[in-house]
Amino acid sequence: MEKINTLISRMTLEEKAALCTGASAWTTVGIDRLNIPSIFMVDGPHGVRRVKDEFDMSEKSRPATCFPTAACASATWNTDLIRQMGEAMAEEAHAFDVDILLGPGVNIKRTPLGGRNFEYYSEDPFLSGKMAVSLIKGIQSKGVGTSLKHFAANNQEYQRFSIDTIVDQRTLREIYLYAFEIAVKEAKPWAVMCAYNKINGDYCSEHHQLLVDILKDEWGFEGFVVSDWGAVHDRVKSLKGGLDLEMPGPQDRRVKAVVEAVKSGDLDIEILDEAVRRILRIVFKAQEVERNSSFDKEAHHALAREIASEGIVLLKNDGILPLKGETQIAVIGHSAVEPRYQGGGSSNINPIQLDIPLDEIKKHAGEERVTYAQGDTGKDIFDQSLIDEAVEVAKSADVALLFLALPASIESEGYDRENLHLTQQQILLVQAVSKVQPESVVILNTGSAVTMSGWIDEVKVVLQAWLMGQAGAGAIADILFGKINPSGKLAETFPIKLEDTPAYINFPGDAGEVRYGEGLYVGYRYYDAKKMPVQFPFGFGLSYTTFKYSNLQVADAFTDIEGLTISVDITNTGKAPGKEIVQVYVHDHEASLSRPIKALKGFAKVKLAPGETKTVSIPLDFRSFAFYHPDYKNWITEDGDFDILIGASSQDIRLQATTKMTSSLKPPCVLDSESTLREWIADPRGYAAIKPMMLEMQAMFNQEFDSDEGIGMDPMGMIMDMRLDSILMFQQHALPIPVDDIVDGFLREAHSM
Ligand code: GLC
Repeated sequence: MEKINTLISRMTLEEKAALCTGASAWTTVGIDRLNIPSIFMVDGPHGVRRVKDEFDMSEKSRPATCFPTAACASATWNTDLIRQMGEAMAEEAHAFDVDILLGPGVNIKRTPLGGRNFEYYSEDPFLSGKMAVSLIKGIQSKGVGTSLKHFAANNQEYQRFSIDTIVDQRTLREIYLYAFEIAVKEAKPWAVMCAYNKINGDYCSEHHQLLVDILKDEWGFEGFVVSDWGAVHDRVKSLKGGLDLEMPGPQDRRVKAVVEAVKSGDLDIEILDEAVRRILRIVFKAQEVERNSSFDKEAHHALAREIASEGIVLLKNDGILPLKGETQIAVIGHSAVEPRYQGGGSSNINPIQLDIPLDEIKKHAGEERVTYAQGDTGKDIFDQSLIDEAVEVAKSADVALLFLALPASIESEGYDRENLHLTQQQILLVQAVSKVQPESVVILNTGSAVTMSGWIDEVKVVLQAWLMGQAGAGAIADILFGKINPSGKLAETFPIKLEDTPAYINFPGDAGEVRYGEGLYVGYRYYDAKKMPVQFPFGFGLSYTTFKYSNLQVADAFTDIEGLTISVDITNTGKAPGKEIVQVYVHDHEASLSRPIKALKGFAKVKLAPGETKTVSIPLDFRSFAFYHPDYKNWITEDGDFDILIGASSQDIRLQATTKMTSSLKPPCVLDSESTLREWIADPRGYAAIKPMMLEMQAMFNQEFDSDEGIGMDPMGMIMDMRLDSILMFQQHALPIPVDDIVDGFLREAHSM
């Protein structure tokens, strides 16, 4: 740090200003005079998108391993495997002389319509955060940086450059910031990328509360905040808001504006120095590691295949998987020969190798036993002749494998989906084929949930293969033929219809705003609260074997500071080796604020041979039980009973136990002259202060309102949401001292406890 502060003292104002804006599309400014190198940063979350030169934003990047996209990676629920993915990506970054990879993305999948959902992990912030921690730790363990993105509440592509996300503080904290918080605190990304959009009126690139108060001061983030590309609108204002590095560069006009602002006194030099300090800290961190100029392509391809095989989710299997030998197989679908293995936009990788589903099926089954029909156009274009041809091929086979991928024109960075169903061509294709071939298997390559009404009952198997990376086709074949036992589980709910989804009424917003009216109730939190049936729930996934859960161990009582470690035994009760994802949800019996019925607070993936039993232990800490209270502007716990729910999915709770938690917090007493009777009663100190008055009031009500002439309603219920002083005003004539003095006395007593 001394070196950096010395350097800062030697830098000119112009050099400082220049350093805070990119030198090109992908590089920072180097200052030879002071031996300050430039660093190179490139996308993205599932591979190294190293374009040819620093001013090139062209489509074609240098060949690199295209790993499974985040939607597939998170469905593995395998943090070790995702860490390995990070390590491999770092090896490739070294080979391409890249210092920072712009990823992972942890924006919450607020609606399955999100065009960029393929690039994000989950509808749940805990799972998203843990996946990001794994990838960041993997990448940074090899001396390559990451840029966690897009901070924050960037949950749609519609008007992403300008839309104002209107969200309450509690929802922001518990849902949309939580994954970032987990990643920043547990993995320390070198950079955080701010989003394009606004939050409650301010651009993220100028959002002091977001970038300074929360990210830097509260969470202790020590890296630099980089803008999303083109997200800065006023460089001086963004520096004041905590935005350290504007990308892309060069932006001479903006550098001059910063110099002028310091000279005129509009911008405090300390703010500029702090941005420079953060950038230099990372620039020199990037110099600390030796770079290897090569990596093992085959090993990375094999790893990509392993990740895909663990991220693919078996949603339905009416007994025909795994495929047996001697089966005549009809392979149908455009994406069986031109696989959709990644999403469109900045994360796009030029794959070193690309496995083709049709070829992989032939490798398993033998050329002679496989026929093919295109079936669909690969675009959102109808062609009956392709359906007719597919029907003929399917008729003469023992099983039909339908590879269906949403076209790039439907989901991508830059635009959201219009609906949740497959294309009309694909729906008609499935219906036509399954009519002549009851043994039909649908393999989906989509970035997020699709609805299945109209065809799911007509097919025997549905395999969700996501956008599964360059080696995904091999993984699909491994699962279809039973070489791999599927172990993926959904990291997002598959709803029955679009109208059921939590954001349906408010998405995508209008008049420049999108209101997060569903609040905390995103994903399974919503479907739980509404007791709404879904097609496939969060955390769901089938296996070729079965598992038994037993011997749940949960302490009867604990304190929030001690936390709680639960354990449970998992047994493979089937005939095939397999992996099971054990999920731990927490349910709060009672809280002073509304809370979702349950929330994911732990998980583990365990490998089991047939008949094998393992004990899984999962720690739960303060934050497993806490919630954010806007009055206290902090996370708090409240004494009380909690259920620990052990699930094979969010809707398949196998075991549960109740435990009593004692809070270490005496939350500050926030009662004031405007507090309602309900608020006074909810705070134990408030209730203690007013209890004598309450008892008198109750006695009076009983006397006055018990008679037949009562007003036909519960008077206490009527006044619960009135201010205390307003209630007392009705009795002012009978009170010995003014109402305000009485309330002040109650407040002094409550605040003194
Ligand atoms: C894009 C994306 C961001 C990406 C950046 C650089 O607009 O939003 O994820 O890292 O620009 O390509």
